[in-house]
Amino acid sequence: MSPGLPPFRRLGRLRASAPLRRLRTETRLEPARLIQPLFVTDAPELVGPVDSLPGVRRFTPEELAHEGRRLAATGVGGVLVFGVPAAKDAEGSGGWQGELVPSAVAALKAAAPALVVATDVCLCPYTDHGHCGLLAADGRGLDEPATLERLAAMAVAHARAGADLVAPSAMIDGQVAALRAGLDAAGSSSTGLLAYAAKFASAFYGPFRDAARSAPTVGDRRGHQLDPGNGREALAEVRQDLAEGADAVMVKPAGPYLDVIAAVRQAFPEAVIAAYQVSGEHAMLQAAVARGWLDERRAGLEALLAIRRAGADWILTYSADRVRGWLDEESP
Ligand code: PBG
Repeated sequence: MSPGLPPFRRLGRLRASAPLRRLRTETRLEPARLIQPLFVTDAPELVGPVDSLPGVRRFTPEELAHEGRRLAATGVGGVLVFGVPAAKDAEGSGGWQGELVPSAVAALKAAAPALVVATDVCLCPYTDHGHCGLLAADGRGLDEPATLERLAAMAVAHARAGADLVAPSAMIDGQVAALRAGLDAAGSSSTGLLAYAAKFASAFYGPFRDAARSAPTVGDRRGHQLDPGNGREALAEVRQDLAEGADAVMVKPAGPYLDVIAAVRQAFPEAVIAAYQVSGEHAMLQAAVARGWLDERRAGLEALLAIRRAGADWILTYSADRVRGWLDEESP
């Protein structure tokens, strides 16, 4: 104890100068840990900006080489590719038979080999009903075995095109094991699995469903996404996905679920944890920035820093490509 000084002063000494503060910093953002979601479409009328997601575009497969090089130059670690197909049907066949995402993956890997390419594996953008898989014959919920088979075929197609990671997001029981088995059987055992392990039934996905045109036409996804009140159940989902062979587990959304990220970090210290700052989180920030109510750079960095501090190794964010520039502007 230093006599005469209250404890807060002793802590305060390490804040006395910028170099000391830099040394004292516990958490830093590194662009290499960030993953940028990327939408690719074969529907000409959908190419271009997404109204509800400022800064986000739907690209043609041909535009992706340029975008991949641009993103690599910002130092981001990777991209997560979502297909937005022109054609939809009841079985979502474009997802497991189509060339949209495989061609996007191949273009990105050729243009920017250093970028990790992950792909979303879910049927909802490809089904005409907008649900994440094939509907059961009795109309109640999903036909899970048939859906798992299609999801595994989709993952294999992405892996063959060169995807480093596949990210099953349908929240169907057994999807991680089914994809792992499918990939291994197809000779793609080096392709990793980023599991959407703790995916909450969230209102914050609204703008994404607009971007991916994937809103369910009837019903919702509450039957297979987590109740926002259930932190313990989220841990059970993570445990299950790790047991099924997930290489990394995701918590989604991120900002409103920092406690869940921290709990997963504590319960599974050795796990690789990703957190997805989803479309609604991005849209909220952007809406306030557009009104002049928040400083984009400072609020953007702080929201991401909090996710990292909570325990996420990787952050999926629509601002990934901005972070390098924001950090460079930071006062010396
Ligand atoms: C489903 C999927 C969703 C998101 C990623 N994958 C939406 C959903 O469950 O409706 C949301 C991402 C975001 O909001 O940014 N395949």
